[in-house]
Amino acid sequence: MLKLAVLVSGGGTNLQAIMDSIDDGRITNAKIQVVISNNAGAYALTRAENYGVEALLLSPKSFDTREEFNQKLLEALKERDIDLVVLAGYLVVVPPCVIEEYENRIINIHPSLIPSFCGTGCYGLHVHEKALSRGVRVSGATVHFVDEGTDTGPIILQKPVMVEQDDTPEVLQKRIMEQAEWIILPKAIDLIANGKVHVDGRKVTIDE
Ligand code: GRF
Repeated sequence: MLKLAVLVSGGGTNLQAIMDSIDDGRITNAKIQVVISNNAGAYALTRAENYGVEALLLSPKSFDTREEFNQKLLEALKERDIDLVVLAGYLVVVPPCVIEEYENRIINIHPSLIPSFCGTGCYGLHVHEKALSRGVRVSGATVHFVDEGTDTGPIILQKPVMVEQDDTPEVLQKRIMEQAEWIILPKAIDLIANGKVHVDGRKVTIDE
């Protein structure tokens, strides 16, 4: 049984999709061990409590140095024997010590088709603003492994979503969540939990 740590900063709709997928069997062989947030006001923490899993607040602001926070985060994951770290709307840069310890065991959901509209500063609504101002007809979402870069790790799954003529960033964000993020993030977890994902450099292969 794969032990998941889900790291969140906001509303937690992706966290909810993971919890629902575990409950209805779309994810097998995995359970949420802990939900960690940097943000005390994150509704995702309430979702975790309602679901009955540990909700842990770990904010860089409560530590004297960033290094202390980094070590605390690493410790929290190791203490709980975490197998897979899932970044589900986590707005903190994952420290190098965590990336090193969990190589190819950290995944992130990004709301565009990487390598479009990603990288530093490209998060939340900014992603969709950029997609709309570039005039793309198709956007989507990507689940990828996390490496030391920003949105540069090996790509696991992608799902396209059509852009409509009168979309606002908010409307496009919602459509991408509903039609892509909430589907491919649980799917990627299920594939990993069942040993179907293999990484070779930047290339990921998935067993049929
Ligand atoms: C999602 O759009 C996700 O792709 C991005 O942050 C947002 C989080 O939303 N990384 P939620 O907290 O899961 O509702």
